[in-house]
Amino acid sequence: MSDIAKLQIGEKTYEFPLVKGTENETAIDIKALRGATDGVITIDPGYKNTGSCQSAITFLDGEKGILRYRGYSIEELAEKADFLEVAYLLIFGELPTKEQLDKFYADILDEAIVDDDIKKIIDAFPKNAHPMGVLSSLTSALTAFNPSSVNVDSEEDMYKAIVKIMGKFPVLVAWTLRKKQGLPLHYGSRKLGYVENILTMMFQKPNDEYELNPIMINALDKLLILHADHEQNCSTSTVRIVGSSHAGLFASLSAGISALWGPLHGGANQAVLEMLEAIKEDGGDTKKYMGKAKDKEDPFRLMGFGHRVYKNFDPRAKIIKKAADEVLGDLGVEDPILDVAKGLEREALEDQYFVDRKLYPNVDFYSGIIYRAMGIPVEMFTVMFALGRLPGWIAQWREMRLRKEPIGRPRQVYVGENLREFVEIDKR
Ligand code: SDX
Repeated sequence: MSDIAKLQIGEKTYEFPLVKGTENETAIDIKALRGATDGVITIDPGYKNTGSCQSAITFLDGEKGILRYRGYSIEELAEKADFLEVAYLLIFGELPTKEQLDKFYADILDEAIVDDDIKKIIDAFPKNAHPMGVLSSLTSALTAFNPSSVNVDSEEDMYKAIVKIMGKFPVLVAWTLRKKQGLPLHYGSRKLGYVENILTMMFQKPNDEYELNPIMINALDKLLILHADHEQNCSTSTVRIVGSSHAGLFASLSAGISALWGPLHGGANQAVLEMLEAIKEDGGDTKKYMGKAKDKEDPFRLMGFGHRVYKNFDPRAKIIKKAADEVLGDLGVEDPILDVAKGLEREALEDQYFVDRKLYPNVDFYSGIIYRAMGIPVEMFTVMFALGRLPGWIAQWREMRLRKEPIGRPRQVYVGENLREFVEIDKR
């Protein structure tokens, strides 16, 4: 393949350089397009064919169902690493030595306390507030308590901001749940691991010791790893574009949480459980819901199916499906919803509509079944997704700033009224 692309507009032919990535992905560099063609631009709703950046963090191949963080396969990381190791890898680019990981976690623990005035903000929310709205607000509020914006050119400043949010975010997540349950807001302990602290802060009852269950710890650790990054998805692109205006890290993360909340994105894990519940209540009539999903007149979509990039099985879904069987078995949980999910998957994988459109189960299809078995309420499922995605958002924001990417400002094609004269109100 030559290293240029030719574009013919009218009588003129233009040449643009090709960019090739380390996994042989090829892009047309159109930086010079508008200037060279006297104003012609491209248009690509949803950016289905448009790359926003060059990134060294995550590689995925949607056709082959491949996902790697910094070159390591998701299968190996889910089996051999723990979440904090993966967070370090995503953010700093290399797997940490034991000393580096111990120091990273000690620095995170130093920051795993939030200003007590945050409790006043939490108290102002109604108990029925959706946790994603609460979490997005609390994350933005961290800016108020940590006003100095990150000097990304200072490694020390950047590191401080990273350990701050890695320490404080799990506290905000746990307190968001506790507030809904009317339980006191408390902290974990320096004696516990990162995931152990999350479970303790979420589930410890005020009048009892909390007994950590290794099955729950391993299940949550694996789920957080599987959600940790996914290149330029909707919420990560939001974090990048907000950060590209040089808004702070916490403000950018708050925007990412809001984008993740949508049911077409991270909110799908909650929507999957609600859909499976509805099918179960409806006598397990999966055929009826398959029909609704294919009916263009019906806005219903099969939640947890399809993906913008994966046109094969989402590798994360395969790992989570296996884990769901193991965790429910180990916890001794019988959940008929799992059987509904497996029946629906079988049906969809044989259905021509789904086969033709390459619609496979995605990361959200089975994750909620594990969260539910762990006793996490359904409206907290997307919050757990955000907890996993945090290091990925941080890594992508940091890369965007360190590469000094320009402010994100897309163009448009105007299709409104041409120039017209103003008409006085008494003449309209
Ligand atoms: C996540 O981008 C990421 O990486 C996201 C994520 C991450 O880790 O950050 O992987 C996490 O968001 C996973 C996706 C969770 N969302 C859902 O499960 C919601 C249900 N899925 C769909 O809404 C949909 O599949 C999307 C939003 C995920 C992808 O939509 P696209 O790429 O814009 O595809 P499309 O809407 O153009 O659909 C193509 C065709 C259409 O039919 P036709 O017009 O060609 O006849 O497939 C159909 C769609 O109607 N279709 C579905 C469907 N998904 C697509 N039909 C029924 N049920 C579905 N779920």
